[in-house]
Amino acid sequence: MIKASELNNILGNPSVIPEETPLTLQRRTDKNVDFFIAPSVVREKLEAHGHLAQRDVIAFINLKGGTGKTTSSVTCARRSCDFGLKTCLLDIDAQASATFMLAQDQSETARPFIEFWDKPEEVSSALINIDAQLSLLPSSLDNSLLDLQLSRPISQKNAVKECCDELFKMGHDLIFVDCPPSLGAGVISTICASSKLIIPTTADSFALRGIDLTISETEAISEAFGMKPPKIFILLTHFDRRIKMSESVLADLKQRYGDRVIAQPIRTSSYFAQAQERNRTVFDFPKAKKAQLDYDFAVRAMLHLNPNNISDKTS
Ligand SMILES: Nc1ncnc2c1ncn2[C@@H]1O[C@H](COP(=O)(O)OP(=O)(O)OP(=O)(O)O)[C@@H](O)[C@H]1O
Ligand SMILES: [Mg+2]
Repeated sequence: MIKASELNNILGNPSVIPEETPLTLQRRTDKNVDFFIAPSVVREKLEAHGHLAQRDVIAFINLKGGTGKTTSSVTCARRSCDFGLKTCLLDIDAQASATFMLAQDQSETARPFIEFWDKPEEVSSALINIDAQLSLLPSSLDNSLLDLQLSRPISQKNAVKECCDELFKMGHDLIFVDCPPSLGAGVISTICASSKLIIPTTADSFALRGIDLTISETEAISEAFGMKPPKIFILLTHFDRRIKMSESVLADLKQRYGDRVIAQPIRTSSYFAQAQERNRTVFDFPKAKKAQLDYDFAVRAMLHLNPNNISDKTS
């Protein structure tokens, strides 16, 4: 949940959340005690100040494996709900890691994207409600056949977009897509549907080369389909200040890609492994403060709630 101090920081006006705000979940007894704000109120306040105007499809892509695509898409989806946004995670990766993280118990009966890509009216029957704000369009091994089914360019252009349009019609505000580490038809279709693309990267040279490749392929795909390319963000994950290379890679990324780099990287934390093991996110672990701060920063960057993109929390 979002605290009053965090919301005031975003809005830049300490008087925006008055003491008598009625929907607080924790009574404010002392002026210095912070308090949580119900997601619906957070959304209302942000909208009243001109934020969150746009619906978004945000895809997590890197052609290199293990860079934090699934962790980031699931964690960002979870955090977005705290801003009062109705969020769906679309899992198109046949490994189905996001599906396991969010709904392991339903993975056996899940209807993957490949079953309804050409029948968007069936999206609702495949949707798994994780809670009131968060839902999942699950994946399974069957999605590995997407390349065969989406062989026609027109199918690639429309498949994910039509699915997302249906989700928007159902009242979703945000759609996150967890992609496999390859450039198959499902990923091409996702690029065509996306307004934003997040490239999570680790600090190794192979992952870094994946950034340029992902950017150039995205531009080529957008041009080939006559579409506006999605806005690109680069998110450094597994960041460890104790390793000298981490700092220099972050500096190099900022120099090379400028504002496209989310200024606060995701620091390493053992809570990510714990979260994955227990099918949760770091926001379910009260002690995982650093990981929460980092993903909160990333989500605000994606939602334009952090226009300065300045970080001071990488120690
Ligand atoms: N910031 C981090 N610190 C430490 N461990 C992390 C961090 N981010 C992710 N991990 C761990 O790294 C591993 C790989 O992450 P993840 O599955 O999200 O990558 P991926 O890019 O989705 O992989 P794939 O390409 O196979 O789909 C997981 O075990 C995850 O728990
Ligand atoms: Mg993954």
